[in-house]
Amino acid sequence: MRILSGIQPSGALHLGNYFGMMQPAIALQEKGEAFYFIADYHSMTSLFNADERRKNSLDVALDFLACGLDPKKSVFFRQSDVPEVTELAWILSTLTPMSLLEKCTSYKDKVAKGLPVNHGLFAYPVLMAADILIYDSNIVPVGQDQKQHVEVTRDIATKFNEAYGATFVIPEPQIRGETAKVPGLDGEKMSKSYGNTLEIFGDEKPLRKKVMGIKMDSRQPAEPKPDAENNLAIQLLKLVATAEAANDFENRLRAGGLGYGDLKKQLFESYWNYFAEARRKRAELSANLDYVNGVLAEGAAKARTLAQTVLKRARKASGLE
Ligand code: ADP
Ligand code: TRP
Repeated sequence: MRILSGIQPSGALHLGNYFGMMQPAIALQEKGEAFYFIADYHSMTSLFNADERRKNSLDVALDFLACGLDPKKSVFFRQSDVPEVTELAWILSTLTPMSLLEKCTSYKDKVAKGLPVNHGLFAYPVLMAADILIYDSNIVPVGQDQKQHVEVTRDIATKFNEAYGATFVIPEPQIRGETAKVPGLDGEKMSKSYGNTLEIFGDEKPLRKKVMGIKMDSRQPAEPKPDAENNLAIQLLKLVATAEAANDFENRLRAGGLGYGDLKKQLFESYWNYFAEARRKRAELSANLDYVNGVLAEGAAKARTLAQTVLKRARKASGLE
């Protein structure tokens, strides 16, 4: 079974990325042959600063390795180190109905927000389909917001197989129910583009400030809160504390007597502890960039070999060879 996923180097990774995608992906490396990559081509649709892309790509590599991606078990690489994927994206684009892309909510959302959109952003799901299909991927672990893109991939693969004969494996998205959509500090979906993130790594002081700054309602501490399960700090606490501790705080909030300040303090402590080991590992890796670059180079070589085989299959099937 081949597992594949990617993440864009478009900014510092956050709890949404971690619980929605990284943690499930890292767990899956025990279950099959995992391919994980840094989607730097995709980041070009929204980030137009070369130095930032370079820095973010290295940061994603450090973050992933620090959080437990094991290069002995997974193939870890930079998307653009396998340029074959862009050729496959072209081939697939000729089988992709415009209407399929026009339906994609991530694109429509950006249009609706008045963000500048480019052709790359519109064609984004086709490149993503190429990423997935070029490695004969079976399972694609992603957060809820990427599910539609995997469905588009399935449609495109089916169209190709119908037009040119069985060529591509049809992949399945894998969405983890309870962390499909991690809320951000404003209660909306946590996202780099909404400025509501709690980063996995960073300096203690500003991060503590972010947590303590979460807005709550104006009810007094003594007041019982029958809707405690909807409280944002409780929801986040459930991700980073033990079930017992999170339930205990939820019950105390429900009963009344627990102030929001104390709850947020607990949330910060649990979050800070949760990533303590990863933070230590990240510092170690930052001091050993040759190792990190070596991991990516080795990953790229392995990924490229497989990509070339599958691309050849598609080229032959479609009459390019
Ligand atoms: P962002 O929205 O911050 O730009 P990306 O689009 O780069 O994040 O997402 C990278 C991965 O993390 C994807 O698999 C995505 O589904 C997942 N992800 C992002 N935000 C969340 C969230 N709030 N909850 C769950 N998963 C998320
Ligand atoms: N679009 C994904 C995101 O923003 C990143 C991505 C690119 C990806 N190619 C992929 C994810 C292939 C899974 C499979 O999160």
